[in-house]
Amino acid sequence: MTFPIESVREHFPALQRQLNGRTVCHFDGPAGSQVPQMVACSMSDYLLNTNSNRSAPFVVSQESDERVEAGHSALADFLGTTDTGEIVFGQNMTSLTFTLSRAISQTWQPGDEIIVSQLDHDANVSPWVQAAKDAGVTVHHIPVNLEDCTLDQTAYRDLLSERTKLVAVGYASNATGTVNPVKKMIAAAREVGAITFIDAVHMAPHRRINVTDLDCDFLCCSAYKFFGPHIGIMFGKRRLLESLPVYKLRPSPNSLPGRWMSGTQSHESTCGAAAAVDYLANLGKTISSEATDRTSQLDVAMQAISEYETELSEHFLERMTKIDSLKLWGINDPNRWGERVPTFSFTHDSISPQEIATQLGERGLFAWPGNHYALPFTEAAGLEPEGTLRVGFLHYNTVEEIDRLVDSLQDVLQQ
Ligand SMILES: Cc1ncc(COP(=O)(O)O)c(C=O)c1O
Repeated sequence: MTFPIESVREHFPALQRQLNGRTVCHFDGPAGSQVPQMVACSMSDYLLNTNSNRSAPFVVSQESDERVEAGHSALADFLGTTDTGEIVFGQNMTSLTFTLSRAISQTWQPGDEIIVSQLDHDANVSPWVQAAKDAGVTVHHIPVNLEDCTLDQTAYRDLLSERTKLVAVGYASNATGTVNPVKKMIAAAREVGAITFIDAVHMAPHRRINVTDLDCDFLCCSAYKFFGPHIGIMFGKRRLLESLPVYKLRPSPNSLPGRWMSGTQSHESTCGAAAAVDYLANLGKTISSEATDRTSQLDVAMQAISEYETELSEHFLERMTKIDSLKLWGINDPNRWGERVPTFSFTHDSISPQEIATQLGERGLFAWPGNHYALPFTEAAGLEPEGTLRVGFLHYNTVEEIDRLVDSLQDVLQQ
């Protein structure tokens, strides 16, 4: 079946916005996706009809509880666990990671080691580095191969030892689009008894995630990158979530998941995140009537999204290779599409990413300049302080939008 791009786009009112008589194009998905109508409706419905704090003995609070629990259930399906207690919501991925690093690091001793990577967003580096400093623990950084922007797997194996307590690595890079072989990396970490933490923020809108299949201990994502509102989600294995010494208030629950969800949460955002999962499941249902439960609908949707995005990548790179003044950072071999998602970083010898992005923005084409907080990468690549021009595609982008982008890039660079 061809991808139902027209009906997909109808769900996103923001994609109709006009600037100077032309429809705008969002290539800024890596910084945050647009939102389907049903996500906004779910949030406003929560606020207008079932707005209450948790666990009171009256009807509105009970309805609010049901909706929040449905949120845990939707995200459990999205991430591939059957245990809704393993789904923790929080302000965003960064805050959840700081909470976790503060808890895990209490179990570390001087002489222990942890491993982070040069291809990660700093939200999966600094929380660990700062906790390691407090605990007197050594931090190793897996180096990035700059020719294709992949992590050096031999170096990773060499860094692992029985002293390794934690491996924190990204599923996909928000700077270069590289997909790391996390399943293998998790298995290797497990052999030495290390806890694994996967940052799946950049992977979530592009591919199906299954924490059970990955066998990771923790995994984080953020709903605003996969068509939901600004809220973070953390999966953790029950055994660890129950036993780790989390900082919490005395009256707050000690059971899961409440033990990790300090203070009053954004219940409306929990509803919005669940609606984003349901939006994707509905897409799967539209594509295959044989997919009857949410899990299989998500399987179908994410497979279709990944195939459609591969078509977009192929088209984009075929046209981009003709612009030889731009350097692409990352995988450009069509035989290796499985190792990347459609996020592309470029630099130009004399025109800064800021300047190119500003000129594109004036034409209604939204791309992002800078280091994208993937500071370990931009430092390793010698790209500070300007970073890269980042162009990211999501399943609501089209070949026509990409043609407009490439034509405008040619125009901007020639001027
Ligand atoms: C790969 C990656 N990890 C982590 C983050 C931080 O996520 P949050 O904004 O939810 O803290 C981002 C945000 O851009 C990201 O792209």
